[in-house]
Amino acid sequence: MKFFVDTAEIAEIAELNDLGMVDGVTTNPSLIMKSGRDILEVTREICDLVSGPVSAEVVATEAEAMIAEGRKLAAIAENIAVKVPLTWDGLKACKVLSDEGRMVNVTLCFSANQALIAAKAGARFISPFIGRLDDINLDGMDLIRDIRVIYDNYGFETEVLAASIRSVNHVLESARIGADVITAPPAVIRKLADHPLTDQGLAQFLKDAAQARITIL
Ligand code: G3P
Repeated sequence: MKFFVDTAEIAEIAELNDLGMVDGVTTNPSLIMKSGRDILEVTREICDLVSGPVSAEVVATEAEAMIAEGRKLAAIAENIAVKVPLTWDGLKACKVLSDEGRMVNVTLCFSANQALIAAKAGARFISPFIGRLDDINLDGMDLIRDIRVIYDNYGFETEVLAASIRSVNHVLESARIGADVITAPPAVIRKLADHPLTDQGLAQFLKDAAQARITIL
């Protein structure tokens, strides 16, 4: 499973990238706002750092304007995936940009039918938002499961990019189901390393090492 990091914070991306944890990056207008950076500048910096797909989102709502914005974003670097919302205009933009050979990430997906038509429009990635479905008392993982089945039934090559990941269990469930990619905030990726028994075991080992006066260097 590929790990994308869901942030526009350069330092966080760099730290995880040095550890080999970053197969790509996703951003959106909210994350760009949080970074306080200019979208074109910060996206260029991210692309210089990471060789995998870097999603940058359009802000237009009409297909022609989305296409123009998408082309401008794609000109930043070879590894840009243009992110468009799952609206009818977004699907039109997806088709045109995909036919031009650009990677398109169709975002704000909340139903399996939306995922089905995004695949038909040539999306390279579909981004179902797990956490936001959980927020309204639905089960975001059911959506990932349904999309996996539908894409496998018909051999769609669109990659399932599990998004709006809020917890380590979202990551685990996505891996069990077979999502191609998860995109998660850096804090969630770091938490994947945590286990209380690891902390407890290490504390005991260090205590015993001190008692036995074990030194290595
Ligand atoms: O990748 C989509 C993500 O940024 C949305 O996450 O937590 O705002 O629903 P969230």
